Amino acid sequence: MRSGESVAGAAAPSAPAYEFIVSSTDGPVGLVRLDRPKALNALATPVIAELVDAVERHQADPAVRAIVITGGPKVFAAGADLKEFSTASAVDMLSSDRIGYWDRLKNVWKPLIAAVSGFALGGGCELAMSCDIIIASETARFGQPEINVGLIPGAGGTARLTRIVGKFVAMDLVLTGRQITAEEALKLGLVSRIVPAELIVESAVALGKELAQKPPISLRFAKEAVQRSFEGRVDDGIAFERKLFYMLFATEDAHEGMRAFIEKRRPTYAGQ
Ligand code: CAA
Repeated sequence: MRSGESVAGAAAPSAPAYEFIVSSTDGPVGLVRLDRPKALNALATPVIAELVDAVERHQADPAVRAIVITGGPKVFAAGADLKEFSTASAVDMLSSDRIGYWDRLKNVWKPLIAAVSGFALGGGCELAMSCDIIIASETARFGQPEINVGLIPGAGGTARLTRIVGKFVAMDLVLTGRQITAEEALKLGLVSRIVPAELIVESAVALGKELAQKPPISLRFAKEAVQRSFEGRVDDGIAFERKLFYMLFATEDAHEGMRAFIEKRRPTYAGQ
């Protein structure tokens, strides 16, 4: 069994043959695994392009209700591909807009779970922070080491890390490029759960299945509301959340949920 393949998975039916990732489904959970072990899953442009394509296919599949992004047991991703970047000029970077691919992850409204074992460095850490929930194995190591190669984080690392861990810890991490353990990441609020390394994918898929039981429209709105509060101003997020809260009263699921609570039974959600 290869890295990350600790759950039975069916290949996504319409998925093209990818070179750098493996895309599959496990019930209602889409699973996208980075599979470029020789380069420690370095996120070269074609790798990100395949990853985004696979995630968008899961998003478009009505049977999928949550999406897990993972890597291998020793590395989630060691960052952008420094070999690819090493010959690029500023004009190349500007005109090719390679980081532009990452923006498409922001449009994914299904829950994105990062399941991180081993190194999540640079763009690897940024990829995890682009998700909605980060589960780490005991072996996970997070960091923004770009400073050590004459760069700075380029895929949202400074902005997101600062909002998550605060100015002074973000400065420490971004300016030194040091790695932190899963335990430190948990204390800092970067990850919400730590699981044994051998259970990382199962745990993330189990969480995805748990989310798949929730009413889909509420799930979508809850994600959108948290995202708005995180990415924008807090006041803006609260006003947005309230509007969505009111709008949910137009769904059958909200009424089914309230009725079921009163009738002391399990609700059945149709996504209507
Ligand atoms: N890009 C391209 N290749 C990489 C890579 C990267 N980011 N990280 C590792 N590799 C390659 C190595 O070059 C090496 O290839 P060869 O076998 O051909 O020499 C192979 O993967 C194994 O790597 P190491 O021998 O270095 O493995 P290690 O176990 O000794 O160290 C590591 C692991 C600490 C993760 C180390 O590889 C490392 O520091 N990698 C670079 C991390 C980094 O700087 N990331 C930031 C990239 S910039 C960025 O991400 C910008 C952004 O914001 C978008």
